Amino acid sequence: MMFKVWITPPLVSCLAMALWCGRGPAEERPVSPAWMPADERVKLSFKDDTPIVFVSRSSNSAQWEELRSFWNEGTETVPDPRTGQLVTRKVIRIKVPLGLTAPPVPQENPMTLAKWILGKKLYFETALSSDNTVSCASCHDPARGFTDQTKFSTGIGGQLGGINAPTVINSAYNFRQFWDGRAESLEAQAQGPVQNPIEMTNEKNPEHAWPKAIERIRARPEYTALFQAAFGSPPTRDAVAKAIATYERTVLSGNSIVDRAEMVMRARIDDDGGDPVPIAQDFEKVLLEAVEKKDSHALKALNIGQDEASIKTAAASLARGRALFFGKARCNACHVGENYTDNQFHNLGVDFADGQIPSTSLGRFAQLPLGHKNEDLIGAFKTPTTRALLKTAPYMHNGGEDSLEKVVDFYDRGGNANEFLDSKMRDYDAEAKVYLARAAGRSLDANVKLFGLNQKPIVPLKLNLTPQEKKDLVLFLRGLEGDPIDPIVADPRRFPEFPKKSN
Ligand code: HEC
Ligand code: HEC
Repeated sequence: MMFKVWITPPLVSCLAMALWCGRGPAEERPVSPAWMPADERVKLSFKDDTPIVFVSRSSNSAQWEELRSFWNEGTETVPDPRTGQLVTRKVIRIKVPLGLTAPPVPQENPMTLAKWILGKKLYFETALSSDNTVSCASCHDPARGFTDQTKFSTGIGGQLGGINAPTVINSAYNFRQFWDGRAESLEAQAQGPVQNPIEMTNEKNPEHAWPKAIERIRARPEYTALFQAAFGSPPTRDAVAKAIATYERTVLSGNSIVDRAEMVMRARIDDDGGDPVPIAQDFEKVLLEAVEKKDSHALKALNIGQDEASIKTAAASLARGRALFFGKARCNACHVGENYTDNQFHNLGVDFADGQIPSTSLGRFAQLPLGHKNEDLIGAFKTPTTRALLKTAPYMHNGGEDSLEKVVDFYDRGGNANEFLDSKMRDYDAEAKVYLARAAGRSLDANVKLFGLNQKPIVPLKLNLTPQEKKDLVLFLRGLEGDPIDPIVADPRRFPEFPKKSN
């Protein structure tokens, strides 16, 4: 007995006690700690554990070229850190889609197959909701581009939320999660819905939502061995969040027509020199390849004919659309980099049709702690990716635009004027004229709206796109649609074999 007490390091058990959740009256106090130390006797050993590693074109192009599919089972021979002896064990290598680098993985949650399988099961698990009706997939459905394709989501008891569900696709690259960035990681995000009274819980005390969810998971015998193998513990809140995040990191979409054209462009300028910009000729080449390979997903995304004339027209339009995105329409002022986001927050005036700020729409500002408040972030929301848009309408945090054409029209008029409109959305020349007119005592242009205490003129920067330019820009956005998510990730019925513990 004495011995048993001593084998649990006192510090670790104190920590587990500190994370004991629920502070209600004694009879209500939930029994499961939110985190538990691993018991090495039940956890998969180093040799039995199967790591998941990302292979991207930029990290290891030779290996990347060799990998045939998204999900590849192989072996690796590596020293076991505990014994120093070389062991050969299974490894899953994920071929990161063209156009993307490997997503970042936090040091405290390395990717393993056991966690991934568990995470995938939990992603589709309705037992995480109080009445066993709602899972993550209810609002982030693989068949619907990992969204629910509605303006606002319906959660537990048919309740309607007040903000559009973003896609989980490529959320692995988000520097923060949620439209207002209030979660700093996928692990932190995954803990939100289970205790959200509109999404997954009907507990009167939201503090009880997690302990009760864990009790429901613990009551399912099929989970016991899986959690033990993956984490060396019974189900805990910490482990559930880690497992779901591990699964989400593999929901990746790339290899779009635009990514392919950029590859072709690089090969072309290596040979002939020139600017590193894909041109019509590059797009034509990849479109012809897509026709040849019968890549119906990419061609359907663009919604174009497959005859030579249609391909030529589409290629020219894609090249013009790209030039607009990175030029006249300056979309790249915010949608930049491999995942087409600057990882910042901007006020585009999405909710501000009449220039007034709804108190529910403070966006990032509301999440900034004291000492960090900045008015520029009032009404500012996270720049989302512009990849994988075709299945995720309606768009914007309020689901207010139901087509890409409408999104482009929104930007064409410069968004909606309001006191805190992002600096990148404003026409400073026009605003300067107002200040000059005011100083000279001339009357002001009646169209200019004045805001706030200081009667600040805010003039949205109009893009003045022609109808053809709008079409080109929309086609370019469609050209950012990537390959479908691999079935091993997207198909709720498909599971690889769970790693076994040897003796
Ligand atoms: C009832 C619908 C609903 C359920 C259930 C739900 N979500 Fe969400 N999810 C949303 C909405 C709405 C948002 C946006 C909320 C916000 O930004 O304030 C969101 C945001 C997210 C984000 C952030 C994406 C980004 O780009 O910032 C991720 C990741 C996510 N959910 C994953 C999950 C996971 C994992 C679960 C299950 C544990 C889950 N969701 C359950 C509706 C739902
Ligand atoms: C000043 C930064 C900025 C610029 C410039 C910008 N965007 Fe955005 N974009 C954002 C932000 C922020 C959001 C989310 C806004 C919200 O919901 O409040 C967004 C949302 C979107 C969405 C909706 C995505 C979704 O999943 O809901 C699309 C599509 C889009 N932008 C395309 C474009 C295009 C095309 C251009 C160029 C014409 C452009 N953006 C210019 C910052 C910007």
